[in-house]
Amino acid sequence: MATPSNSTGRPPQTAIRCVGVTKTYGEGNAAVQALRGVDLEIRAGELLLLEGPSGCGKTTLISVLAGLMHRDGGNCSVLDHDYEQMSPGETTLFRGQNIGFVFQAFNLIPALTAAENAATPLLIRGLKRKAAVDQAGAVLKELGFDDRMMRSLPADLSGGQQQRVAIARAMVHRPRLIVCDEPTSALDRESGHQVMELLRRFALDQDRVLVVVTHDERIFKFADRIARMEDGRITRIENPPARAPEASRKPPAQS
Ligand SMILES: Nc1ncnc2c1ncn2[C@@H]1O[C@H](COP(=O)(O)OP(=O)(O)OP(=O)(O)O)[C@@H](O)[C@H]1O
Ligand SMILES: [Mg+2]
Repeated sequence: MATPSNSTGRPPQTAIRCVGVTKTYGEGNAAVQALRGVDLEIRAGELLLLEGPSGCGKTTLISVLAGLMHRDGGNCSVLDHDYEQMSPGETTLFRGQNIGFVFQAFNLIPALTAAENAATPLLIRGLKRKAAVDQAGAVLKELGFDDRMMRSLPADLSGGQQQRVAIARAMVHRPRLIVCDEPTSALDRESGHQVMELLRRFALDQDRVLVVVTHDERIFKFADRIARMEDGRITRIENPPARAPEASRKPPAQS
C-alpha cells in the first residue's frame, strides 16, 4: 500500500468505492461489455491515475464515477452518494456542486470566450457574470493565460490552450471530485507539468479526490497511485515512480 498522503493525522477516508461495477453498450450481437466488474477504492485527498490500452473502458469508468452514465450492475459510492438511488434532478444538482469533468474532446462552447467557458459552472450556479469571469480568469492565469487569450474564442486558441480552458472549467467551482480524460494529451512538457501541479495542489485538500486518465508517462510521477485497467477491469494498482523535486508536494495554495 502507498503511504497515505494525508498529513492531518486523521485516517484517510474512502471517497470512492466501486465493487463489481459493470456496463454494457448496446444489445444482442452488437453488445460491448465495457466494464466487466471494476473493483476500486480511492481515498479522499488522493490523485489517482488511470492507465490502460485504448478501448479498455477508462472513459466509461470515469463517466460512471462522475454520474454521467448509469452502471448496469455492481455497487458504486461516490462521496457517500449512490447515483442509482438518486433522481435525475438530484444527480444534476450533485454533479453541479461536487464534480468537475475534463472531457477527452474538451467540449468548449464556440460562442463563449475562454474566460466565459471556464466560468460556466459558476454561471450555472447563479454567480454574477463579472465575479464568475474574474474567478475563472484567476484559474486561467495560473495555467499561463494572459488577458488576450482569456478574451479569445475557442476557435482562435491552440489545442493545448483549449485543453487548459477545459481544465480551468473543471476546477473553477472547487468541486470535491475532478475526473480528467487525458488532460495533458495536447500539451507540451512544461504546460503539462503546470496543469498537473495545479491539479496536485487541488488534491492536497483532504476533502478532494482526482481521477486522471492518461497515457502520458511524463505525468506518472504526479500520482499518489496508478491504477492499470485492462479489458474492463482494474488489474493492478501501483505506486508512481519517484517524484522529481519540482513535482513534490507543495503547501496548499491560498484561496
Ligand atoms: N457509446 C458507445 N456505444 C457503443 N460502444 C461504446 C460506446 N462508448 C464506448 N464503447 C465501447 O466500449 C469500450 C470501452 O470504451 P471507452 O471509451 O471506455 O475506452 P477507453 O479506455 O476510454 O479508450 P481510449 O483510450 O481509446 O479513449 C470500447 O470497446 C468502445 O468501443
Ligand atoms: Mg477514452
